[in-house]
Amino acid sequence: TLRKAVIAGNWKMNKNRAEAKALITDLKPLVADASCDVVICVPYTNLETALAATEGTNIKVGAENCHFEKSGAFTGEISADMLTEMGVEYVIIGHSERRQYFGETDVTVNKRTKAAIAAGLNVILCVGEMLEDRENGITAELVAMQTKIALKDVSKEELKQVIIAYEPVWAIGTGKTATAEQANEVCAIIRSVIAQMYDQAAADAMTIQYGGSMNAKNAEELVAQPDVDGGLIGGAALKAEDFSVIVKAAS
Ligand code: G3H
Repeated sequence: TLRKAVIAGNWKMNKNRAEAKALITDLKPLVADASCDVVICVPYTNLETALAATEGTNIKVGAENCHFEKSGAFTGEISADMLTEMGVEYVIIGHSERRQYFGETDVTVNKRTKAAIAAGLNVILCVGEMLEDRENGITAELVAMQTKIALKDVSKEELKQVIIAYEPVWAIGTGKTATAEQANEVCAIIRSVIAQMYDQAAADAMTIQYGGSMNAKNAEELVAQPDVDGGLIGGAALKAEDFSVIVKAAS
């Protein structure tokens, strides 16, 4: 990367509170001298534990989703303000698992992105193609469309609160990582979309992560790519040792 990298863990629906505390306790000394940014996105029930366990460290805490309304009759949902009030600084929006299993669309991703930005959160905005899209040769168009809709009505100033994570769906949790070239190619396409929508300076400043079976072995080659500014890590973020090796690769 040419920019400061961000390594973010996405714990997904894993770890109870005791396990969360233990993982963070192990992780803290291993990443203390990282020169990249380190974020862990955890289940809502672990936020308080994670915030307490990371206090005074270089590890930032994020949630894995938030709702777009400020409050109201939305049973089971959590607002962006509820997160910032706790001290949460990041939120993942539009993860492919939310798109695939929970009816998330480009339009609701845009609403959540705007709400999270307005609340002061940093957004990790996920985009990425399915295997079928790649086979049909529409990866560039699809990822461009996802990016454009997600960032509709987001100003250049607000864009500073956004990180984009390129996550090819076929690489998530499959052990089938994109090659460094494939990852770099699509991250560069996303960057050119940002240049079109905003300007070159905004594109040059944008953090664009790769995600999808990134691990302790392949991280170094992926983050060495000029347009890959770190990673969004699922499985390998659940082990302190593995996650810290990825952080070191990006430092
Ligand atoms: O948000 C993280 C991604 O979905 C990657 O997950 O590293 O387990 O493939 P994974």
